[in-house]
Amino acid sequence: MSNRIRVGILISGRGSNLQALIDACSVAEYPAEIAVVVSNVADVAGLERAERAGIPAHAVAHGTYASRESFEEAVDALLGAAEVRLVCLAGFMRVLSDAFVEKWRGRLVNIHPSLLPAFKGLNVHRRVLQSGARISGCSVHFVVPELDSGPIIAQAAVPVLPGDTEDALAARTLASEHKLYPLALRLLAEGRVVLDGERAVYRQVQNAAGELFSPGL
Ligand code: GRF
Repeated sequence: MSNRIRVGILISGRGSNLQALIDACSVAEYPAEIAVVVSNVADVAGLERAERAGIPAHAVAHGTYASRESFEEAVDALLGAAEVRLVCLAGFMRVLSDAFVEKWRGRLVNIHPSLLPAFKGLNVHRRVLQSGARISGCSVHFVVPELDSGPIIAQAAVPVLPGDTEDALAARTLASEHKLYPLALRLLAEGRVVLDGERAVYRQVQNAAGELFSPGL
């Protein structure tokens, strides 16, 4: 039986980060596999990407549920049935309840298109351009109840170039996200980074020569 970590991915749309994770997981030595993809919006491109890759894909349309709790129960049931151990939010546009976040504490991560803690929330690239910042980027972080505020696992910097438009900066950042998320998921799946209280902590690991070191990015 495979000892790869079983991962569930929650999406709401296009799914380009999902695709980056699908591609990473298609390499035999990658330590994670995608067991299920769930979208809170039906008929999105991300679900098609999952189906094309032969991954079980489900739409759980939040609008058809009476409450946030019943919607999340349906999502959680799919994750449980797929024996998922780690959940990645990849463009998932619903705020999750404290109860769901607590249940998955330390096993629930998100990608955000800024260098957190700067520029939390929506319309990131517009606000980056308005701010005059010369460097932007993306972050993968553990999810906590407060939006875009959990301990940071990994980040990549992206330059803001003269004459940038929102779309140009978004595209440059997205290309960076597609490298960062597979890297962060690898670290998580290998147990090289864990949530310890309020911090993401890198564990020392042994290299082939038996030496202890802390893996960097
Ligand atoms: C990405 O920019 C991600 O950082 C943000 O939402 C966007 C999702 O894009 N959370 P995609 O669906 O992965 O293409």
